[in-house]
Amino acid sequence: MTPVRIDVASAQGTYPVFVGAGLLRESPDYLRGANLASPVVVTVPPVWRHHGAGLADLAGQAGPVMMPDGERAKTLRTVTRLYEAFLVRRAERTTPIVALGGGVAGDTAGFAAATFLRGLPLVHVPTTLLAQVDSAIGGKVGVNLAQGKNLAGAFYPPRLVLCDPEVLRTLPRREFRAGLYEVIKYGVIASPMLFDLVSANLKRVLARDADLLTQIVVSCCRVKADVVGRDEYERGSRRVLNFGHTIGHALETVTGYRRFRHGEAVACGMLAAAHVSASRGLMPREQAEALADLVRRLGALPSVDGLRPADVLEAMARDKKARDGRLAFVLSAGLGTTRIESDVTAGELTAALAAIGLRG
Ligand SMILES: NC(=O)c1ccc[n+]([C@@H]2O[C@H](COP(=O)([O-])OP(=O)(O)OC[C@H]3O[C@@H](n4cnc5c(N)ncnc54)[C@H](O)[C@@H]3O)[C@@H](O)[C@H]2O)c1
Ligand SMILES: [Zn+2]
Repeated sequence: MTPVRIDVASAQGTYPVFVGAGLLRESPDYLRGANLASPVVVTVPPVWRHHGAGLADLAGQAGPVMMPDGERAKTLRTVTRLYEAFLVRRAERTTPIVALGGGVAGDTAGFAAATFLRGLPLVHVPTTLLAQVDSAIGGKVGVNLAQGKNLAGAFYPPRLVLCDPEVLRTLPRREFRAGLYEVIKYGVIASPMLFDLVSANLKRVLARDADLLTQIVVSCCRVKADVVGRDEYERGSRRVLNFGHTIGHALETVTGYRRFRHGEAVACGMLAAAHVSASRGLMPREQAEALADLVRRLGALPSVDGLRPADVLEAMARDKKARDGRLAFVLSAGLGTTRIESDVTAGELTAALAAIGLRG
């Protein structure tokens, strides 16, 4: 099957996202075709272990630059290490950097590419579901500081994105499911068809049927490309992507980022946001129930036992202060439609948290 091409508009130039099963094997051709030959490939050990064998051509004789795995490696220290590796390999202004891995590799190598010699051409080759549908598109790169997540970063659009849904076969089950919650988010905010596609074919999705995953990744990339194309720097409409994220981020914060994978926290946040939306009569109740049902069919989420609603509300208040001082809460106005409201009350949030199991 020929890969699907989705163009993403950006102030720094439009870039293509290609999605296709088996695309990874052809990645050297795609790079050459885009004048991005002889790259430095940055990756993490698990990804290279599973997929490196077919990528010797891409990484060249020197092999890839390996960075440590996991969210804890998303630091300025790792970025410094990457600069050093780029220097050893005599990278120049025109040397492409290929970020091969999940969101951690993409954000960190992307930030290094954005800043080394004031910017090298960046290619994302995302290998997690989350990275394929979310972090590789939209141009956000960055790292964490001790004081918080993603505090140092930039808007730095890639020149090319290559998504191969076949690589998702080797993804740990929990990571795959965590990405699926973000897929469901796209369905809720923009595409009832995508929501139904996942819901009606969940077994095949969980079996990671390559054709179906290709269809799903394409749908998500189209939604994200459309949203970021209209609001690259998150001045307004891009915020619809935050559906489920206000409460999700707060859950991640109060659990010190240890209990939930990001997507799992977002799943809880979506259920709570759907509760607020349905209580306001914005989202039909049966749709809120369909969402809850789909999330349930994906398997158990981490327990919210021991979490106090007051702490979650406080984390949300701090988060909103850190952002722009206003709580812009994304509600669903029925599958495929959103409404951003700034008047969601503590009472509504408390009721929504109770609905997902947090009781004071
Ligand atoms: N830039 C953005 O717009 C944006 C958007 C959303 C999330 N993010 C960031 O993305 C990060 C999370 O990304 P993630 O969920 O991809 O996590 P991750 O990059 O840590 O990957 C999860 C795990 O899967 C492994 N892995 C990756 N691909 C694999 C494969 N094909 N087979 C087997 N194992 C594989 C990784 O090595 C890692 O252990 C967070 O830091 C988050 O802040 C950024
Ligand atoms: Zn997210």
